Amino acid sequence: MCGIFGCVGSSDCVGEVFNGLSFLEYRGYDSSGIAALSSDSIHLVKKKGRVAALRSALFSSSLSGSPSIGHTRWATHGAPDDSNAHPFLSDDSSFALVHNGVIENYLELKKFLSSYGFSFSSETDSEVIVNLIQYFYNGDTLLALSETVKRLKGSFALAVISSYDKDKIFFAKKDNPLVLGLNNGVGYVCSDYPGLSSRVDKCVALDDGTLGFISPYDIALFDFSLSPLQPVFTHVIKDDNLSIGHYEHFMRKEIDEIPEAVSRALNSYYMSFPASVFDGINRIVFIGCGTALHAGLVAKRLLRELSPSLDCYAESSGEFVFSDFPVNGTLFVPVSQSGETADTLSAVKKIKSSGGKILAVCNVPSSSIVRESDNVILTSAGTEIAVASTKAYNCQLAVLTAFCLDAAKYFSSDENIPFIDSALCELLAIPSKLKVVISCENLVSLLAEKYSSAQSVFYLGRGLDFCVACEGSLKLKEISYVHSEAYPAGELKHGTLALIENGVLVIAVITQRLLLDKMITCLAEVKSRGAKIIAVSPFSDDKLSALSDHIVAIPAVCDILTPIVSVVPTQLFAYFSALYRGCDIDKPRNLAKSVTVE
Ligand code: F6R
Repeated sequence: MCGIFGCVGSSDCVGEVFNGLSFLEYRGYDSSGIAALSSDSIHLVKKKGRVAALRSALFSSSLSGSPSIGHTRWATHGAPDDSNAHPFLSDDSSFALVHNGVIENYLELKKFLSSYGFSFSSETDSEVIVNLIQYFYNGDTLLALSETVKRLKGSFALAVISSYDKDKIFFAKKDNPLVLGLNNGVGYVCSDYPGLSSRVDKCVALDDGTLGFISPYDIALFDFSLSPLQPVFTHVIKDDNLSIGHYEHFMRKEIDEIPEAVSRALNSYYMSFPASVFDGINRIVFIGCGTALHAGLVAKRLLRELSPSLDCYAESSGEFVFSDFPVNGTLFVPVSQSGETADTLSAVKKIKSSGGKILAVCNVPSSSIVRESDNVILTSAGTEIAVASTKAYNCQLAVLTAFCLDAAKYFSSDENIPFIDSALCELLAIPSKLKVVISCENLVSLLAEKYSSAQSVFYLGRGLDFCVACEGSLKLKEISYVHSEAYPAGELKHGTLALIENGVLVIAVITQRLLLDKMITCLAEVKSRGAKIIAVSPFSDDKLSALSDHIVAIPAVCDILTPIVSVVPTQLFAYFSALYRGCDIDKPRNLAKSVTVE
């Protein structure tokens, strides 16, 4: 979703802002722009499309200066075109602003400003903010900003430059992330932590209800009523692995990183897991969106098998806010790669305000969800740049599996302990199985090419395999734009079987020995209606071989660990399908890496 990058130093900052925006491309966007202060006036360049279009426009302009702010926009109010792209200038051109979030009362503010003669050049909610700053300006930009934000309803992360203030970027934050950093006479403002991690050693992740300004050597922080606050710096965990290397796409690179990432995730779990979270608990609720929800579904199923005395649920964050789980005796486990997903963050805030106990599973340190939660397991997957989540998902599964086994140990009777201990040992060896499963890439690539014109793909599984089917199906839709659905295999005959006809592709995940015969029955049903079947399975079984058109063999692991491994061929299948269909794999249409609006 929208990205902000700003920079203030002693020399021209436009190049640095452009590089910052190029990094933020992974968040998903449809236009971009940069404003800079030079010789007492603000100039800007903005363009529809990728930052490559902005680069060409910057070349033909002479935009330079400091401070400078830039933005990548993911359209909400108004079409993705040049006029709706950020930054926006105030009516008198003395202020420029970039905004992430949604202003709910913008129409009434627009009406108010219009009655004072302000004119608007865009359809956005954001443009009212910069004009409101101009309206309130009376020689003090900070005061004008404070008066402005008090009148905004909705969510915002703002960066503002002013022709009256030569070496300052002003900022304000409510319900949308904003991070600050200083390095050697340069001040930075960025909408996410990864965007700053290569530039600064320490950063300040802003809390809601704060505003202020950053200059080359200093940060001044206030609440919305301008009472001073002390900035809290946290050390940045460096990720040296941010370049694409020899890969064509980050997604493919990130799949190769899965074994190492999972081993880091397990280390991080064992270094920091607070076993006391289970005290007084009889219910666990996993919460997340998309891929993170699928990780929660796996965990729910594992716990139901391993600790039947616990009450377990997995809820979509967007639905969770309408549900009413009792707080007493419940541990809430929000799962999020970015730590900024608005629906999950709202759920966390709701739980927090009712006094609930939270253990977050998150990949980004200092993210909003991490800061709002009592306890955290960091998945330590490293920065994930492709919009489609892969390595972060495998890491979520690894730490959630360790968590479920620990819960089972805490809640189960003694006779289960040997089984749990042996599964824990096998979990530590899972990175080596992951290295093996990635080597199915050549076969998966051939299959993806063969079926690259499929109109529709059905993913089937039972039990844990159904959760993997859901994730495989989501990944395919997301990056290759092929219609796809996941079904618990037994459900198919209750309606969806009507869609199975000659040549329809079915991908079946079959890893649970006890469910093999039932899966074979389902495969026979689709086969007899003309489906083509790809089975992802560790089993060599005559009936399975006879029914399947292709088998992607995966290494055998104990049943409860299979999701971490069996999802990999489905990730690769989505990747190669998108490749053969000529899709923009790392930046799929309409999607954003971090979904910061509800
Ligand atoms: C799919 C994908 C999304 C995210 C979802 C939640 O590949 O990446 O479905 O999983 O938007 O994001 P996080 O995990 O950042 O909360």
